[in-house]
Amino acid sequence: VELFLDPDDGRPRTVQIYEQLRHAIVEGRLAPRDRLAPTRTVAADLGVSRSTVTEAYGRLSAEGYIQGRAGGGSVVSPVPLAPTDARRAGAALAATPRVARIKRSPYDPEPGAHARFDLRPGVLDPSLFPAVEWRRCMLHALDRAPLHYGEPAGIPELRAGLANWLSRSRGVTASADEVVVTSGTGHAIDLIARVLLDPGAVVAVEEPGYPPVVELLRAQGLHVVGVPVDDQGIVVDAIPARARLVYVTPSHQYPLGVVMTRRRRLELLDWAGSAGAAIIEDDYDSEFRHTARPLEPLQRLDRDGRVIYVGTFSKTLSPALRLGLLVAPKNLIPAICVLRQMIDWCPPLATQVALATLIADGHLDRHLRRSRAVYRERHRLLWDALGELLPGGYRLLPAEAGLHITIVRPDLPADRSVWSLLESRGFMVGSLRRTYRFNEPVAGFLVGFGALPTPSVSAVSRAFAETLEHI
Ligand SMILES: Cc1ncc(COP(=O)(O)O)c(C=O)c1O
Repeated sequence: VELFLDPDDGRPRTVQIYEQLRHAIVEGRLAPRDRLAPTRTVAADLGVSRSTVTEAYGRLSAEGYIQGRAGGGSVVSPVPLAPTDARRAGAALAATPRVARIKRSPYDPEPGAHARFDLRPGVLDPSLFPAVEWRRCMLHALDRAPLHYGEPAGIPELRAGLANWLSRSRGVTASADEVVVTSGTGHAIDLIARVLLDPGAVVAVEEPGYPPVVELLRAQGLHVVGVPVDDQGIVVDAIPARARLVYVTPSHQYPLGVVMTRRRRLELLDWAGSAGAAIIEDDYDSEFRHTARPLEPLQRLDRDGRVIYVGTFSKTLSPALRLGLLVAPKNLIPAICVLRQMIDWCPPLATQVALATLIADGHLDRHLRRSRAVYRERHRLLWDALGELLPGGYRLLPAEAGLHITIVRPDLPADRSVWSLLESRGFMVGSLRRTYRFNEPVAGFLVGFGALPTPSVSAVSRAFAETLEHI
């Protein structure tokens, strides 16, 4: 069988090789006793290290798919998979093509020892997490949290606390009964799309954009269309007239960093009004604003209840908490709650009580003030250093908010050589190319600075810029 590596596949290469061979065996394309190509040959063909291939073969062997051959090399196990093995291998059932084609999100929680410089976009500094306060709030919550099912929208004290906090910190106008506590952004968007749309409906998203949302909407059987972004935000004129929902990141476009202008916000709202469409405003990291003053959220400018605001604590506290929220017009809340109750009923009650206490006691505000100052400094240092040191051919995009800076280089080679070079020098950065899902991608890097200790920003920027000179 022909093996290939997909540079856009977020999974390790060993896993890609293992999966392709396993499928070939399970599907009978490799028959019992067939010889596998020697690891050395496969490694040379794919341009990977031999240990990458050996590891994949080792796993196949441990699971009984292949075995060593007298005289060296490996063959497919001579005995066809026993029924239980076949069952475990999942030979009879398959995900629908709609779901099977979704690539796993390239997020890797364990960067590995080779990653000396974790510059992935959106990664936080764990040392900033208010661990002492959170522990105290959790202990208090464990004593207090009721031991029964809760309200699907969240406990009243948290909904009230969030409504108040959103209006103070983001200018969102919400009452407690318009807030639903979710398990993060994807969960909120999943609920909203299911409540508002039938399969086959057209949804517009930003291109480039946040890939997991595109895939999530596609997995729901929606027809997702990419709409370009210019220096003012999504190009409203390019949104298809039949779109029923538009997903945007106006305070800090992911990944380009554009802040949607007030004019464009009004234009988008006007468009939605005349098209009868809904808007999801994903405000994922606007707490970290470095230069510009915040603009009024779409949700606040909305006069006829078309905007659903979505927020997350993945950037403000930690992605490990799996806590987010949505603010929807009141008339949608019952349907959202009915659906939510059938899926996971409600968020863990103890975590909700803890977050409500963290907000009420002022710890969240204090934590954000502290983190904002740290990230702002890292942003300034990285911005200045890259501005000075980037070799010709690279362009920095304005970055007024968030935890990453985007660098464009349209003629970046599309093969793995760039990533191998960065990996060999210990850098983990995001790929701009991967954030395109519809059109010819533009290449570049998303350089996260969240986890970069302030004293090392200059030295790391220098080493990174120096590495780019070799591309
Ligand atoms: C555009 C965007 N929205 C939302 C999130 C956070 O998602 P979640 O709340 O599911 O952790 C991210 C994380 O990187 C993001 O880039």
